[in-house]
Amino acid sequence: MSGKLSGRRILVTGAASGMGAGIARLFAAEGAALALLDRNGEGVAQVARDLGQPGWTCDVADRAGVGAVVAQAGDRLGGLDGLVNAAGILDITPFVDLDPASWDRMFAVNVTGAFNVVKAALPLLAEAQAATIVNIASVSALMPMPGTAGYSASKAALAMFTKSIAMDLGPRIRANSICPGVIRTEMTRYLWENPEHSARAAERVALKRLGEVDHVARAALFLSCDDSAFTTGTELPVDGGFSWR
Ligand SMILES: NC(=O)c1ccc[n+]([C@@H]2O[C@H](COP(=O)([O-])OP(=O)(O)OC[C@H]3O[C@@H](n4cnc5c(N)ncnc54)[C@H](O)[C@@H]3O)[C@@H](O)[C@H]2O)c1
Repeated sequence: MSGKLSGRRILVTGAASGMGAGIARLFAAEGAALALLDRNGEGVAQVARDLGQPGWTCDVADRAGVGAVVAQAGDRLGGLDGLVNAAGILDITPFVDLDPASWDRMFAVNVTGAFNVVKAALPLLAEAQAATIVNIASVSALMPMPGTAGYSASKAALAMFTKSIAMDLGPRIRANSICPGVIRTEMTRYLWENPEHSARAAERVALKRLGEVDHVARAALFLSCDDSAFTTGTELPVDGGFSWR
């Protein structure tokens, strides 16, 4: 199959839903061979069936589990050329009420989860001709918003982790993060299902609308193929004009 990702083997986390699933769909259409991972077993199995690609049930915070899945994925695909870390969780709670366990979990999934996947995949990526790592951070990595101390700190850590590994792993491996604004997925259903909240969120951005999964998937495609061959260590906002204000 020809396409921008023809011949590339890419592991996508968070592939059962939202951006991870949308990225998997676009990447499959662009000719990639995929390994799909999510802690939601039923969800990832469904996407895997739809796309005819292998899927695994795994919690990215479980280092041993991630190691096992990455090894199996590498065997199945004959190596790995890229990763997209889209698995993530959000807890919006005013700091005074933020449960320390929720803080720990956001770091375990949003930061250490990506670390676990990159670390496990590194020997495989190191063998690839032009490997790519794309981490889905957030505009919350770039700007404060009420009630997001834990989430924002975890996403800022993820973005700086990405920049740091871009330095350490170049020139063979490129690493970039995407910083989405409000995108219509399960994670933000509470917001976009409410017309008043949705309109207020849209009003805050230059393009006056919420983002769709495909906007992020297209950015992930750019960063996972040769179109971005000289781009590494960046934080690409896909936010309709929000984080620069
Ligand atoms: N939706 C937005 O507006 C928005 C904005 C900025 C950043 N993000 C980030 O984008 C990424 C994708 O989110 P989404 O909006 O598609 O949400 P989503 O809830 O639709 O999808 C997230 C997926 O990650 C999986 N997941 C969660 N924890 C996991 C774990 N420990 N191990 C494995 N899989 C796990 C979930 O099962 C789910 O399938 C997340 O990292 C999120 O923080 C989302």
